[in-house]
Amino acid sequence: MNKELKILAIIIVLVGITYWGIEPYAHSVMHPHHEPATFAYEDLKPLKVKGNAQKGAQAIINNGCTGCHSIKSQNIPAPMDPVSASASYGVNPPDLSLIGAVVDPKFLANFIKNPAHAALLDHKFNDKKPYPMPGFFGSEQDLADIVAYLVSIAPKEVSEKEAFEVGCGRCHNLRYDNWTVIGEKPKFKSKVEEADFELKLAQYEENLKNYLGTTPPDLSMFIRSRGPEYIRDFIENPQKILHGTAMPRVGLTEEATEKVVAHLEKVGDRKKDKRNFLGIWVIGYFIIFAVLAYLWKKKIWAEVE
Ligand code: HEC
Ligand code: HEC
Repeated sequence: MNKELKILAIIIVLVGITYWGIEPYAHSVMHPHHEPATFAYEDLKPLKVKGNAQKGAQAIINNGCTGCHSIKSQNIPAPMDPVSASASYGVNPPDLSLIGAVVDPKFLANFIKNPAHAALLDHKFNDKKPYPMPGFFGSEQDLADIVAYLVSIAPKEVSEKEAFEVGCGRCHNLRYDNWTVIGEKPKFKSKVEEADFELKLAQYEENLKNYLGTTPPDLSMFIRSRGPEYIRDFIENPQKILHGTAMPRVGLTEEATEKVVAHLEKVGDRKKDKRNFLGIWVIGYFIIFAVLAYLWKKKIWAEVE
């Protein structure tokens, strides 16, 4: 075999190893295989009775829910500001106006009955360290009425941003979108105002860390480091992906999850369009370059002959 052929053979083998060996291996390590998310929440039992939304409006007050949660669309204000609430509960209890539009109703019923269990956080909370939201001890009918009420007051459509804020916004900052765990970051009129806001944010984050044992990361960059499928599967069942994690299962519907992922993509990958556009230019450059190289080669051969 002559030398050129040997070199060619070596290159083919190396390229083959890189293409079929290393790339799929790296992929399998970075994205370990697991069953794709179904959003059926099969481990949870459905309600056995049908709820009555009108009765639920009263039941939600009788059962003390509004002692912790606001329902702003129904003019029920928050009992505390976010920082004080986090001092009491570790985290700000979410406003319930949109919950029925983003959280799966079966999950909702199970969460209200036994929050830590539905959130898959039994390993983090117990009698010594109780979950901040007490489990519901009323009748199955009252529970069904409350769920029916929450579904009835929720709008048919929520925006991608709203889905994120309701589902994730009490724990995760999204600085690229000016979102913080205590709300939208306002335009400040003075340095004092800004310092005051940052102090409140720091206090909230400290309480959140004490509550969960770790600081939930800012999600601005996660869509790029983890990719959309990972985020989607992680939302449906955090324990399946990161065993022992303090991140709760929040029970979003598939549709709401898609909205959250779309929001994270929009915020975290603002340069995507620009990059795709650049790609076209790069390909164009290579085509022009190839044509020039070909013409040059032809010219040289023409001179030789
Ligand atoms: C003592 C305060 C308190 C009371 C009372 C309370 N909650 Fe909560 N609730 C919380 C806190 C705190 C959270 C957030 C927990 C977290 O995300 O770690 C929460 C979360 C929720 C969520 C979000 C679930 C999800 O999927 O993320 C819903 C829905 C909810 N509560 C409904 C209710 C209803 C309905 C009642 C009344 C039966 C109620 N809560 C009573 C404190 C309370
Ligand atoms: C009650 C607080 C809470 C809520 C609500 C919450 N998270 Fe988290 N999240 C956490 C905590 C705590 C961690 C850190 C987990 C760890 O390090 O084990 C985390 C981690 C993550 C991570 C990083 C996972 C990784 O690979 O390191 C992603 C992505 C994430 N959350 C997305 C979301 C999304 C999307 C939502 C809304 C649908 C959400 N979270 C709602 C507390 C929360």
